[in-house]
Amino acid sequence: MSRRSVIVGTGSALPPNRVTNAQLAERVDTTHEWIVERTGIEARHIAGDGETTATLATEAARKALDAAGVPADQVGLIVLATATPDQTFPASATKVQTALGIDDCIAFDVAAVCTGFLYALSVADNMVKGGMADYALVIGSETFSRILDWEDRATCVLFGDGAGAILLKAEEAQDRGILVTKLHADGRHNDLLYVDGGVSTTGTVGKLRMKGKEVFRHAVTNLADVLNEVLVASGHQAGEVDWVVPHQANKRILDATAKKLGLDPKRVVVTVDQHANTSAASVPLALDVAVRDGRIKRNDLIVLEAMGGGFTWGAAVVRF
Ligand code: COA
Repeated sequence: MSRRSVIVGTGSALPPNRVTNAQLAERVDTTHEWIVERTGIEARHIAGDGETTATLATEAARKALDAAGVPADQVGLIVLATATPDQTFPASATKVQTALGIDDCIAFDVAAVCTGFLYALSVADNMVKGGMADYALVIGSETFSRILDWEDRATCVLFGDGAGAILLKAEEAQDRGILVTKLHADGRHNDLLYVDGGVSTTGTVGKLRMKGKEVFRHAVTNLADVLNEVLVASGHQAGEVDWVVPHQANKRILDATAKKLGLDPKRVVVTVDQHANTSAASVPLALDVAVRDGRIKRNDLIVLEAMGGGFTWGAAVVRF
């Protein structure tokens, strides 16, 4: 037995404004058919006035605490993964902390774009295992609609807003909780997926830019490699995995990755059709959907994976 981080609650939040492909096609030169065929996306949620990364994160975190039946004042650590913080500083995690009524805990943001949740999970897991907190909220929350170039049809149709959260609890356990996490980054590919502005360069927020075809090619290779890596490290075979909860960028990437590893496509949780790519929010959002609809159950072996700008990529094996 050793001290492990166990997921005891999940939650998520979506802005009420749901925008279908047909609605998008009224303002952008695109069609429902093109978007579905290339990406599998049918709709996305877009944040409205007053809805921010921190407000969505707070709603998701509250639901995770409620699901676990744990009062907010027990939380000793909040790690919030986002590439779209409310402000350059303070960290949006501290806004969530205040909104939850927590007077004192460790709270900070992690920036690894679409892999952000895996990075945040790994950091929180190691802090919990190291004894720095008994309960930790790990959140992915994004408002990518605010960094999209709505004139660029090749990118603006792909993303949506939302948040997902999990509550980790320190428990003495053998084969339960976060079993393995593996993280990678390769900054040589900065120019394939990036935002063309920032505090220290242009002094403006900037807009998302992407070379889609090249990102696609790297995504399938990197995700298959890191999935293989976490499975080997955990001592489990692909056939033992109950559920894969991937980053929801594109249905074709999910299918190609599952095929490459021989994973049963019926065991892959897919929400990209309804949420589009919500960056760091997509893995915990998809996890919460599958927990709440009863697919993911206690003791299931699940694999989380993501890839994003940087490039960054990572995966985790979890006994739920
Ligand atoms: N509607 C209609 N046509 C569109 C369009 C849209 N929304 N976006 C692009 N097109 C057009 C292009 O202009 C191009 O037209 P052309 O051939 O006349 O020049 C054509 O469609 C093909 O564009 P291309 O970029 O080659 O398409 P693709 O097959 O590579 O698909 C993506 C584009 C973005 C869907 C695909 O590359 C992809 O999914 N990449 C991965 C992106 C991703 O997941 N990023 C996030 C990782 S975290």
